[in-house]
Amino acid sequence: MQILGISGSLRQGSYNTQLLLEAVKELPVGVEFRIYEGLREVPPYDEDDDRDPAHPAVTRLRREFASADAILFATPEYNFSVPGWLKNVIDWASRPPNHSALRYVPVAVIGASTGAYGAVWSQAELRKVLGSCGARVQEGEVALGHAKQAFESDEPLSAEQRAQLRGLLAALVAQAEQRSHAA
Ligand SMILES: Cc1cc2nc3c(=O)[nH]c(=O)nc-3n(C[C@H](O)[C@H](O)[C@H](O)COP(=O)(O)O)c2cc1C
Repeated sequence: MQILGISGSLRQGSYNTQLLLEAVKELPVGVEFRIYEGLREVPPYDEDDDRDPAHPAVTRLRREFASADAILFATPEYNFSVPGWLKNVIDWASRPPNHSALRYVPVAVIGASTGAYGAVWSQAELRKVLGSCGARVQEGEVALGHAKQAFESDEPLSAEQRAQLRGLLAALVAQAEQRSHAA
């Protein structure tokens, strides 16, 4: 069982990337976790360029998405929504619609922001977008607000947030196991 982690931030020192690393600590035993590193290489979506053979970064992206047992997204919030670069990657993965690399893939969304609300609007938008691509979206979120202060402290997540993260990951893994047994 392998979960692919995707941070929606290109920034070095990203709080969302750090949040993904916190998620690793809460995974059930035996589940492997790998962070997708190719976000920056993916070109801007252009339907004219969406043909065979695809751009190598797009081929890699689609292959990695489709082969993951489940995907965990950690998204920043830019102007109350999903950062454009992350949306761009999802747009590429969503095509062709009948063979989308996200179709039937179990996914969950968490988020960190420097504001008070922990990217809740961005997370809600991302769940909506992923659902429209045919992904199996876990309900629930983990919202880490005031992320700068959180990651400067000894314990970035409260006990409640850690429990939410554990619960979300357990549900994601259970869904992925169900899918693999059904296949
Ligand atoms: C263009 C832009 C828009 C932003 N809009 C929001 C916002 O709507 N809500 C929010 O809580 N934080 C907002 N922020 C602050 C981000 O939460 C902050 O930059 C955060 O650290 C980004 O995540 P990262 O650390 O993973 O890169 C915005 C930042 C940028 C650069």
